[in-house]
Amino acid sequence: MSTTVPASVNPVALSAAALRLVEDRNTLALHSLPTHRTPKVLLTATLPDHLRLKILITGGAGFVGSHLCDKLMIEGHEVTVLDNFFTGSKKNIEHWLHHPNFSLIVHDVTEPIRLVSIYVMNSYDMTCHVMTCASIYRYY
Ligand SMILES: NC(=O)c1ccc[n+]([C@@H]2O[C@H](COP(=O)([O-])OP(=O)(O)OC[C@H]3O[C@@H](n4cnc5c(N)ncnc54)[C@H](O)[C@@H]3O)[C@@H](O)[C@H]2O)c1
Repeated sequence: MSTTVPASVNPVALSAAALRLVEDRNTLALHSLPTHRTPKVLLTATLPDHLRLKILITGGAGFVGSHLCDKLMIEGHEVTVLDNFFTGSKKNIEHWLHHPNFSLIVHDVTEPIRLVSIYVMNSYDMTCHVMTCASIYRYY
């Protein structure tokens, strides 16, 4: 199926709109978005490539992990959260979902083969394991 621009669309206006989208995207890469759980806008630093670390946080959607994630994102690092939302919640990290430095992997770490492939593909500089089933009520 071919997509053609309708004759009524002004190409100059179109490129201005495209430019605005790129500018908006660059602006969004500088901060978190306010959400119900994290209404405060958190500014992110822009680190040069040699200082920006790739960091994997297992359990990053939990209480401790999401705060660690906030700190590392504010410092300007690239953060990957791996979580299965067993006791954590997507709401704890949804203020970062738009950010180019942030990635989310929904995965259960009890499946080791997939975890190994993540390490091979992305070669993280640091891994923080704060994943655990800390909530007793989940055992019942
Ligand atoms: N909360 C505290 O005040 C506190 C204080 C000191 C130490 N700790 C320790 O820090 C650790 C984390 O505590 P928390 O309060 O953040 O707990 P939490 O339940 O909020 O976070 C744990 C995270 O791990 C995830 N998870 C659990 N099983 C998983 C699996 N199989 N695969 C992928 N993800 C999985 C959960 O979904 C959750 O997001 C625990 O070891 C706890 O003992 C917590």
